[in-house]
Amino acid sequence: MKTLVEFINDKQVEYPGATGEFTRLLNDITIAAKIVNREIRIAGLADINGMFGSTNIQGEEQQKLDVFANNHFINALKHGGQCAAIASEENEDLIIFGNAYSQKGKYVVAMDPVDGSSNIEVNVPIGTIFSIYRRLTPEGTSATVDDLLQRGRRMVAAGYVIYGSSTILVYTTGNGVNGFTYDPSVGLFFLSHPDMRIPDTGNIYSINEANYIYFPDGVKKYIKYCQEDDKATNRPYNTRYIGSLVADVHRNMLRGGIFIYPGNRKNPTGKLRLLYECAPMAFIIEQAGGKASNGFTPILDIEPYDIHQRAPLFIGSKQMVAKAEEFMKEYSGDFKDLL
Ligand code: AHG
Ligand code: MN
Ligand code: MN
Repeated sequence: MKTLVEFINDKQVEYPGATGEFTRLLNDITIAAKIVNREIRIAGLADINGMFGSTNIQGEEQQKLDVFANNHFINALKHGGQCAAIASEENEDLIIFGNAYSQKGKYVVAMDPVDGSSNIEVNVPIGTIFSIYRRLTPEGTSATVDDLLQRGRRMVAAGYVIYGSSTILVYTTGNGVNGFTYDPSVGLFFLSHPDMRIPDTGNIYSINEANYIYFPDGVKKYIKYCQEDDKATNRPYNTRYIGSLVADVHRNMLRGGIFIYPGNRKNPTGKLRLLYECAPMAFIIEQAGGKASNGFTPILDIEPYDIHQRAPLFIGSKQMVAKAEEFMKEYSGDFKDLL
């Protein structure tokens, strides 16, 4: 069976001009993912035994998993030398590496180190999301925020790790999507899901329906559409909502389905962050043959202005997202101006 490292190296050979820097960067990310995976597995056990307190044996403050994960990804990228700056959910400001580290790096990374943090304590799948861009400023100088404020279409690679019943890393470099399952007995990721394709349609819709009264009319009507009886289109659909974007999208990727996190009139852009949640997931899903938009515009075409800006997200099977967009256009056209 092919390992992730072999797979990444094989891909590099396919690009004659490749310098190996990108390969190194990707490998650094996967090493950090392994460390985070180990900690997640231990945290779960400790939780069950009631031993996961706020202090450790040395009497130090126990780090929260999202801080721990954040530090590990930052350190891996900092010492690797290929990444000049990181936008992370856990850091208000862009993390810009100085001369001693990766200032020469030609790439920048946006990441959500732990996605679905509220699920950690109840042993529900959580994830990590990352995206890689080529920087715009010259190598050797300090990176700037503008290096991160690039449209999703310019992304070089994106991936997620799902820490579920098994740990799976899924990534794309814009040439299809591949998934790798972690075998803890040998400490390696193996290619388990080659050339992933999301079904064009499905019968799962994932949305936090508790917010129904705040939803735009287009989303309300689409939900009612999902609940109608119609044999030809397999309706009524099923609801599945984990509350971890990575896990909800991963399931829909394999089974077919749509995930929606809409905005509302007070907060038109919703909750999810464009740079390190919506855009990387959109790139992966588009590469797998699916569709992702804010209800009107493809996520990958949105021009970012802030590293932490939010966007409504409609993502999943092509036909289902197209249908939801129809409802948005027909009943909530005015929302487009709020975005
Ligand atoms: P994070 O843990 O990185 O802050 O992300 C949580 C996100 C996302 O994973 C999930 O889809 C969404 O929040 C769930 O939000 P609701 O609880 O509002 O449904
Ligand atoms: Mn998240
Ligand atoms: Mn997070």
